[in-house]
Amino acid sequence: MRFSGKTRVYGVIGDPIEHSLSPAMHNAAFQATEMDCVFLAFRVRFDAVQNALRGMRGLEICGLNVTMPHKETVISWLDAVEENAKTLGSVNTILNDSGKLRGYSTDGFGALNALKANGADPSGKKVLLLGAGGAAKAIAFALGDEVNELILLNRTIQKTIHLLNVLQGKFGKKVNAGSLSIDSLQRNLQNTDILINATSVGMSPKSELSLVNSELIRKNMVVMDLVYNPLETELVKNAKAKGAKVVSGLEMLIYQGAASFEIWTGKAAPIEVMRKAALKQLKKVGNS
Ligand code: ATR
Repeated sequence: MRFSGKTRVYGVIGDPIEHSLSPAMHNAAFQATEMDCVFLAFRVRFDAVQNALRGMRGLEICGLNVTMPHKETVISWLDAVEENAKTLGSVNTILNDSGKLRGYSTDGFGALNALKANGADPSGKKVLLLGAGGAAKAIAFALGDEVNELILLNRTIQKTIHLLNVLQGKFGKKVNAGSLSIDSLQRNLQNTDILINATSVGMSPKSELSLVNSELIRKNMVVMDLVYNPLETELVKNAKAKGAKVVSGLEMLIYQGAASFEIWTGKAAPIEVMRKAALKQLKKVGNS
């Protein structure tokens, strides 16, 4: 048993939470950096968020990740929220700073760093982003300054228009959007450099689904699928078959986790260790 009376506690709150890869990833990181810390998963029901954060203060839990469905609601109970998380209206990382709970969002940063680290820097590129939910929004904000053009396609048009207005307000007319259809996909994919699926389509158990017909994928394209269960989604399989570069959704999870680790500890995250632990855990819980 490596824990003691001095062990510092970290964790993740969400519901459901039992399949979270974060405990495996962060405990491996703490061990590799020889930190006397432990990371646990806490199931927190929708109406118990305030109590959970009272517990964080009372028990002096040092840091928490926040996942579905609490990323928005948690904001009401924090003492401070950094600018990017405020803009997104979403917090995935809380730091207990001597009793002051500070909220951050590392999701967009995670996606951007995952692309860069995998040789797919979006600077000056055309990016086609599928989806207009929380994940898509975080990515759009992180990529907005870097890209040459950003196109958003989403099934529900009202949501798309709302997000487009916010993004154009910040990044101008290089951001555009439309409804998700065979036509709009075909038109936009012709000159897209990076395609990102930020919808839940392709996730297990409906893993045979993909929004993008394999004929539309080109060899000189990067394809990132945020879905990582299964790791080889239909979209990823098709992209690989076409010889396109693939960045898995697990990479985004790893890099957002690494950013949380750095906020909590002030130390560089051991990326390779975290990747190995996340992959191992995904293989264990993936299809259960
Ligand atoms: P997250 O926070 O993970 O982004 P979310 O906010 O629920 O989750 O967003 C899910 C995204 O997947 C949305 O863009 C959703 O499209 P709608 O806005 O039309 O709901 C998209 N999505 C889910 N199922 C889909 C499907 N079968 N076809 C197309 N898009 C789908």
